[in-house]
Amino acid sequence: MAAAGSAVGLGNVWGFPTQTASNGGAAFLLIYLLMMALLAFPMLVAELTIGRYGQSNPIASLRKIWVKNRLLATILGSTAMLTASMILSFYAILAGWLIGFALAPVLALVGLDSIANWLTTFGTGRNVLLTVCFMMMTVFVVRRGVSDGIEKWSSRLMPVLFVLFLILIAYIFTQEGATLGLEMYLIPDWSHVNGGLVVNAMGQAFFSLSLGVGAMMVYGSYLGKDVNIAKTAGQVAVIDTGVAFFAGLLILPAMFVAKNNGVQIFNEVGELISSGNLVFVVLPSLFQSMGMVGEVVGVAFFVLMVIAALTSSIAMLEVPVSCLQEETQIQRDKAALVLGGLILLLSAVIAANFESLFDWVATASTLYMQPLLGMCWAVVLGWVWSRKALLDEIKQGNPEIETSLFWRIWPWYVKFVCPVAILMVFVYPFV
Ligand code: PHE
Repeated sequence: MAAAGSAVGLGNVWGFPTQTASNGGAAFLLIYLLMMALLAFPMLVAELTIGRYGQSNPIASLRKIWVKNRLLATILGSTAMLTASMILSFYAILAGWLIGFALAPVLALVGLDSIANWLTTFGTGRNVLLTVCFMMMTVFVVRRGVSDGIEKWSSRLMPVLFVLFLILIAYIFTQEGATLGLEMYLIPDWSHVNGGLVVNAMGQAFFSLSLGVGAMMVYGSYLGKDVNIAKTAGQVAVIDTGVAFFAGLLILPAMFVAKNNGVQIFNEVGELISSGNLVFVVLPSLFQSMGMVGEVVGVAFFVLMVIAALTSSIAMLEVPVSCLQEETQIQRDKAALVLGGLILLLSAVIAANFESLFDWVATASTLYMQPLLGMCWAVVLGWVWSRKALLDEIKQGNPEIETSLFWRIWPWYVKFVCPVAILMVFVYPFV
């Protein structure tokens, strides 16, 4: 459940619907599902297995496998750690907005309208302040260690988030315009498919399953030897994809309902206006249309989203913290504070130069670095690790796996197909 909590986050509720809406709808959804099943899921099994074998931070786990080239293992592990930090630096800004939207209705209720307004309007001051709040929450949790509290939170709150989605989806379909969104979401228009869309879908799948950056290796290292890794990975992938699918089923119809209510969603040429902001325009407009009930539902929704973002951000911070803590023997407490502070500094720089930096950092880290690092793990698992050691590890918690179809396909698949496929997706737009 902790791994599922790390996977479910802004990637599902902000990234996926935004990407789907800006890439033509159903065609993106289908390619995304393909990417999930064919690339992200096998790589999730790979990362969890590497982590559980290593029983340590990603750098040390990789070194344990790549004994002959410890330097390269350290360099790759450190790159993953830096990428996780980069992702957290922009993620914290977005998550801060969620805090703003959760607080605003409550403040407005007690007459503090101007503060409520400030919290929901784009501006450097509020971006920085809310980012600080979110980072403080993240550091607070990571300082105390991951495994205990978070798993309980995730397992209790995830079903609530799911039910809230179902209620909101039922509501949105009573509104005019919703079916246009449903058509866009479910009826593919293949003219949208091109190399760029496939790159986006792959990056989104890797981002959503928290791959490449070592987060799943860390969570793998916390798994007991009695856990069936392939099954766990399957459950995480299904929960994650389910939440993303329902988020799309809500947001795309809600876009057209908002448009029907006079909110500007598309520009004159029919393109989505400011796509990164889309969800933060569409959702409040949805809650507003529900009247007083909407205020309560809105607060509940954004509070749940802050928690979902928190279970993801702690996974990101956990990567550099576990590396620093184990590699230098400094206390977890200090490591979390120092690294949280440094990443916050980076966030502040991004927030102060939002227009020029935000998209760049997000694209570089999620669209390119995550799949490319994933490709490296596929190579390590397939070409460096001995098949026997791999089997010994994955057999624990699942003794019958040796005779299963999974074992006949997966090692070979990760060795040959995954690295080539990831590379091809990148190269294809240029040929
Ligand atoms: N998967 C998380 C989400 O969907 C983001 C994440 C990326 C978490 C990388 C950890 C590591 O929001």
